[in-house]
Amino acid sequence: MSELLDKHIVLGLSGGVACYKAAELCRALVKQGATVQVVMTEAAAQFITPVTMQALSNRPVFVSQWDAREPNNMAHINLTREADAMLVAPASADFMAKLLHGRADDLLSLMCLARPIDKVPLLLAPAMNREMWSHPATQRNMSQLRADGAHVLGVGQGEQACGETGDGRMLEPDELLQEVVKLFQPKVLQGKNVLVSAGPTFEAIDPVRGITNLSSGKMGFALAHAAHQAGANVTLVAGPVALTTPYGVRRWDVRSALEMHAAVMSHVDKADVFIATAAVADWRPAQVATEKIKKAASGHMPAIDWAENPDILAQVASSARAQNGQLFCVGFAAESHDLAAHAQAKRQRKQVPLLVGNIGANTFGSDDNTLMLVDEFSVIEWPKDAKLRLARKLVAEIAARLPSFRKTT
Ligand code: C5P
Repeated sequence: MSELLDKHIVLGLSGGVACYKAAELCRALVKQGATVQVVMTEAAAQFITPVTMQALSNRPVFVSQWDAREPNNMAHINLTREADAMLVAPASADFMAKLLHGRADDLLSLMCLARPIDKVPLLLAPAMNREMWSHPATQRNMSQLRADGAHVLGVGQGEQACGETGDGRMLEPDELLQEVVKLFQPKVLQGKNVLVSAGPTFEAIDPVRGITNLSSGKMGFALAHAAHQAGANVTLVAGPVALTTPYGVRRWDVRSALEMHAAVMSHVDKADVFIATAAVADWRPAQVATEKIKKAASGHMPAIDWAENPDILAQVASSARAQNGQLFCVGFAAESHDLAAHAQAKRQRKQVPLLVGNIGANTFGSDDNTLMLVDEFSVIEWPKDAKLRLARKLVAEIAARLPSFRKTT
């Protein structure tokens, strides 16, 4: 997916060793379809050359406010009027101190001041030594910059180029890319708490065997990702899957249905929305053998006694908060046939306002999906699309349903 198609991003670099990461960030932005205009301070040019940034962005780089290449000699106006956003990465302590005062004695700070403040959001990715980061002056400057409308991003923690360890590393290029993509997503779930269950469960038979299913977790992870980008605080309870945690999402790993049940129950009290995409095993072996079960001499498979797993969604949906309109529950159904009928029956059985059906064989492991939304009054079909795009549509749909759900229940 080209996440930044038609977007024009000004990528500003101020002086700091993290400039080396800006090269990769530039490439990542371009790969997502953005036009990237690089602007560097003279200090930044000590760390990485404009030549490198020009080659990666495929556009001339600007460093000086006296650069005569612009016909009207007003680079600070021209370059900001065509921008959809400005990202300064790295933003040094000195550069932020300068912005705070509205000073504009070099092209990049001049552009930060000259940009149309309501149309061109400014993201700052701080990068500095841990002592500089924790200094009261830096912290004070950042609060004021936030109050002035800048999006001051967090920092990473760990080993620093100076040899010290602590807070102050610039976020990684992929994290910064995610911040830029997020900036353009409508904040339809701003401040809401969203809980998502995803992936399969694994029910142990003995120490080396168990039963599971083919759920990849991709739809649930896409929904967690989309909800975060829509402004929600997202907790993702994940069964055993090999997927990276979406940026900004809190993840809770579980293995069995009972573990998933416990994790969901411990987080659901604060949730405004619960989206149950997990393919939870209906049954588990009643007893888990402590040693590996050996092949029987009889040649028959040993019998297993089964215990029923709790239906997490049904239990959550019958809770007082869900019943009185404080918690909106969404179920998923992976079927092999008669999707609409099965999905409607499941919705009624589990007492959820919205159930999303998909065909198991088409969704498990795939990056695409087709969805069928079933509620009390209607059935809506969404054609095949990337899971992340469908997830964004579903997040918008859930957000649109929240106010009336609160009133009618
Ligand atoms: O009954 P079935 O498994 O087909 O229902 C699917 C929906 O119920 C999904 O939303 C799934 O996450 C949820 N579910 C659950 N706990 C179970 C079984 C299913 O939360 N034990």
